[in-house]
Amino acid sequence: MKKGTLYGIGVGPGDPELVTIKAAYLLQNIKIIFAPFSSKNTYSLAFDIISPYIKRDAQVIKLSFPMTKDKKVLEDAWNENAEIIVSYLNRGEDSAFVTLGDPMTYSTFGYIKKVIEEEYPDIVIKVIPGITSYHAAAARAGKILAESEESFVVISGAMGAEKLRKAIHCADHIVVLKVYKNFSEIKDALKEMNLIDKAVLVSRCGLEGEEVVKDIRSKDITPSYLSLLIIDNKGGLKDE
Ligand SMILES: C[S@@+](CC[C@H](N)C(=O)[O-])C[C@H]1O[C@@H](n2cnc3c(N)ncnc32)[C@H](O)[C@@H]1O
Repeated sequence: MKKGTLYGIGVGPGDPELVTIKAAYLLQNIKIIFAPFSSKNTYSLAFDIISPYIKRDAQVIKLSFPMTKDKKVLEDAWNENAEIIVSYLNRGEDSAFVTLGDPMTYSTFGYIKKVIEEEYPDIVIKVIPGITSYHAAAARAGKILAESEESFVVISGAMGAEKLRKAIHCADHIVVLKVYKNFSEIKDALKEMNLIDKAVLVSRCGLEGEEVVKDIRSKDITPSYLSLLIIDNKGGLKDE
């Protein structure tokens, strides 16, 4: 029996109007939809975003992904979820795995893709790009990410401010995703580097409760998980 194709679909950062036409078209035609959620609750934002587009009789299967740094726990979850997905593909069902923003950028889909490619090489995987959180946030905050000979980098703040300290040597604009846990450390580093007034915080872009904070110095902020920083490092320390 012919196996189904797995579509990794980026659904954009929140606003359902930022779902691409290609993604919406596929979602109107695919019956099996996998939606990731954190094991802390059963809510899937990616599913919420696509709900206006899916078939009435679509079967939505929520897959639990733990929010942990424990490699073993994570790998077990990736393997188990990959097996569930493959069991549907083996029945010949085309299936979609929906993911926030873009599937190739800090996405759970990347891990699933790697496991399936390694363990089930005969399965066809197609990736449908999505609008990233930082492209939507730059538009919302009116921040140009790069022009002319400039460069910008995207880093993760999940481990603290170390990557930011390195990034200021090589980029004119820096985007920091996953800032929520280490926000005060990142803020202190920005102060030290004289960049605190050049940073904009965008939270829940395109969603209820959206916030664009242009003065992060003056506010006592506890950003939500869906928050990122865009830092203007033009004229700053660079090693070119
Ligand atoms: C696991 S990454 C997902 C990135 C996503 N694949 C993308 O292409 O943008 C999660 C981080 O993306 C950022 N993010 C995602 N959606 C966002 C939104 N609507 N507003 C602000 N930041 C968002 C936050 O920094 C969050 O901690």
